[in-house]
Amino acid sequence: MALRLLDHPLVAHLMTRLRNRDTGPEEFRRLARTLSQLLVIEATRQMRSSSVTVNTPLESTEGEQLAQTLALVPILRAGLGMMEAAAEMFPKVSIGYIGLERHESTAVAHSYYCKLPDLADAFTLCLDPMLATGGSASQALSLVRAHGAKSVVMVSVVAAPEGVAKLERDHPDIEIVAAALDRTLDARKFILPGLGDFGDRLYGTP
Ligand code: PRP
Ligand code: URA
Repeated sequence: MALRLLDHPLVAHLMTRLRNRDTGPEEFRRLARTLSQLLVIEATRQMRSSSVTVNTPLESTEGEQLAQTLALVPILRAGLGMMEAAAEMFPKVSIGYIGLERHESTAVAHSYYCKLPDLADAFTLCLDPMLATGGSASQALSLVRAHGAKSVVMVSVVAAPEGVAKLERDHPDIEIVAAALDRTLDARKFILPGLGDFGDRLYGTP
């Protein structure tokens, strides 16, 4: 498994604004959206395309067209903050949803919803901004694989070393694309320095 971090000054700028505790939900959603587009561009580098002839106003030339559907699987709720931005960029998109919630004291994620299309021929992105213990992402990746997914990338905003290590153990062949690799988890399994609870900041819930 490989972790690919986006190394770009705009990404670093967006991350700093997202981390800032004084950034409110409106700006937070806008930043998450822009960052998600940059992450998704990087995460879809290996999508299949095929050659096609295109007639410009002046002559014919060879072009490329995407030859695969992009399947987006946001993990509810915070993954929804990445989904629209990704969906609007691609011509053929299929969307599935996985509902997972961490227990407040144990931080163990339990699944409460799963609706996925057949993923066998798609290029699948599992979207969850926070990869903390990796428990949620690992369960989600098992579910997308059970629905036939072969080409899968995990897309996160912030990853913790603990979460990366868990995915390395549970899904060694899956690549992670993230904007930042943070230091560690605290006693409540929140990422440090992190940005707090992504879902709460996105939706303005306390
Ligand atoms: C957050 C986050 C991830 C999960 C990451 O969701 O959006 O899904 O925690 O933690 P993990 O790597 O330790 O599993 P949360 O369970 O708080 O649900 P929410 O998005 O509905 O707020
Ligand atoms: N979920 C979040 O939203 N933030 C964290 O730091 C860990 C899990």
